[in-house]
Amino acid sequence: MSSIKKSESGVPNIESTNILVTGGAGFIGSNFIRYVFEKTGFTGTLVNYDKLTYAGNLMNLVDIDGKFGNKNYFFERGDINDYGNVKRVFSKYDITLVVHFAAESHVDRSIFGPKEFIETNVNGTFTMLEASRQHWASRQDVRFHHISTDEVYGSLGESGYFFETTPYDPRSPYSASKAASDHLARAYFHTYGLPITVSNCSNNYGPYHFPEKLIPLVILNAVEGKPLPVYGDGKNVRDWLYVEDHCEAVWQILMKGRTGETYNIGGECEKQNIDVVNSICEILEQLHPLKDNKEIKNSKLKTQNYKELITFVGDRPGHDRRYAINCDKIKNELGWKRQHGFEDGLRRTIAWYLDNRAWVSNIRSGEYAKWIEKNYTSRA
Ligand code: NAD
Ligand code: DAU
Repeated sequence: MSSIKKSESGVPNIESTNILVTGGAGFIGSNFIRYVFEKTGFTGTLVNYDKLTYAGNLMNLVDIDGKFGNKNYFFERGDINDYGNVKRVFSKYDITLVVHFAAESHVDRSIFGPKEFIETNVNGTFTMLEASRQHWASRQDVRFHHISTDEVYGSLGESGYFFETTPYDPRSPYSASKAASDHLARAYFHTYGLPITVSNCSNNYGPYHFPEKLIPLVILNAVEGKPLPVYGDGKNVRDWLYVEDHCEAVWQILMKGRTGETYNIGGECEKQNIDVVNSICEILEQLHPLKDNKEIKNSKLKTQNYKELITFVGDRPGHDRRYAINCDKIKNELGWKRQHGFEDGLRRTIAWYLDNRAWVSNIRSGEYAKWIEKNYTSRA
């Protein structure tokens, strides 16, 4: 396995290095791993370190495992809080670059059970930073990229944007835990000099998104003729980015980002939730017309239009009203820009869910857990 090389500009040659991705079995992590292998010409070693919580799914990476498994791609099951195991993995694969996605990610779950969020997002990030610092002490070419969220900046009114300099104002246990982890990452840079970068991204959507989040939940509920729950008045605004565009932005930061810096990543695509839900219904009507939908035809539900399933429900406590990211820094400094518009990205996403119903039923049914037991436990 090769170790990290420096180009003339001091930028690490990451295409052939040894990368540790935490949370690589989740939604964005698995898309990122696929992006690295399929879109970047990567020839090094990539280790996916994941605890496989309810949100982690190795079926997300069956194709990658088939093509690159035990050659360039390796999976290690483990908790980011397990310092000894993290250190073992660092040494075993001679890791030079950490891309830290692992987290508890769902705001609603953080409201009902915040403890897990503190343990994983705060303590777990601390453990990853501390293990990286120890590993770095002996080899100096270690770099740590911390993946974070725009939610750390709080909630916007009708106007304005989140900049990298916007003061933190998190309002949910999830965003507070992510804010704490961002501060820790920066503290390790300022205090110890550990070369870190941080990115704060807006709402992602796309394939392999766990169906507790708004977009996949609405797609699947509509297909099954179930209510489409819209919190409050449906006018909360999120800034949507197709997941592959996020992956590309992270790769650009790894290639060219300046250490110690934070980069905002966003879709420049503000939408009210109700408009997102209406768009899903409209695209579904084209891709999977209600009149041909056997799941609904066979049920007792009598509906003429997916939109009739929209149901306004009680609001999320502390529901942030509006997020909007200014991402001029990454555009101007690193030359990144998003490739997918919302209509295009949403259509691809809906098509993916329609084509991958087996994936959906597996992660919902518990079959997934059995599959992991059978296929992976012995390989770790
Ligand atoms: P996800 O919930 O889909 O996946 C999280 C992954 O982390 C899972 O594979 C899970 O098994 C793993 N994990 C959880 N706890 C762990 C632990 N203790 N040890 C090891 N692995 C553990 O999350 P996601 O939506 O893919 O988000 C990934 C990262 O991106 C998170 O840090 C999140 O805060 C951030 N982010 C997400 C979005 C978004 O829209 N989803 C936007 C901006 C930033
Ligand atoms: O902004 C980035 C964040 O985006 C990430 O840091 C989080 O990890 C990710 O989960 C996401 O958080 P949100 O809370 O914005 O995503 P969610 O899909 O849960 O909700 C999107 C919006 O839709 C939000 O305003 C709440 C609303 N909503 C959500 C659900 C699940 C509904 O109206 N009905 C629902 O059933």
